[in-house]
Amino acid sequence: MSLKVVLIDELRDMYSAENQLVKALPKLARGAKNPTLKLLFREHLAETKGQVDRLKQVFAIFGEKPTGQHCNGMEGVIEEGADALDNDEEGPSFDSGLIGAALRTEHYEIAGYEACISMSETLGMKDVSSLLNESLKEERSAAKKIKDAGKPILKAASQQQGESAKKVKTGKERYSATKSKEDERDAARNLKRR
Ligand SMILES: [Fe+2]
Repeated sequence: MSLKVVLIDELRDMYSAENQLVKALPKLARGAKNPTLKLLFREHLAETKGQVDRLKQVFAIFGEKPTGQHCNGMEGVIEEGADALDNDEEGPSFDSGLIGAALRTEHYEIAGYEACISMSETLGMKDVSSLLNESLKEERSAAKKIKDAGKPILKAASQQQGESAKKVKTGKERYSATKSKEDERDAARNLKRR
């Protein structure tokens, strides 16, 4: 498989990831309690739609279709965000969970764009890397804006009263707790083998 084929594969993943976010961001915007956070999610939705169009331009350069691959990684990251939206925390604590989820999605995309840019630069495809760089800049700036807007929210959350530990209630939470113990046990086994 040539590097060009690997890059097209990665770009199809990015295309799926961006499309999944076009669907997920309105849910985060609706869910956010803090008006600045709400606005940031809405603004980033508009940017994300532009990033989808930019990827279409990249695929036009390759003369390929953008569809063909579902990004499982982004599906998982969005699933974590859905858990944050299901949280029964209130106000700033609830928003803190959304901030964590949003930062994960942004950094997942940053990693994806960085990889695609390195590959397109190696292939000497300047037109592709400059389009991807525009999206990378937007992702970095979105992550920074969320982090900055998050500071007073996290501070307010730190002053909120509430339970100190989350109680496992639903079947999904029980499954997640069991799996996390398995992760720990498997890691311990692997460490012993060394
Ligand atoms: Fe994006």
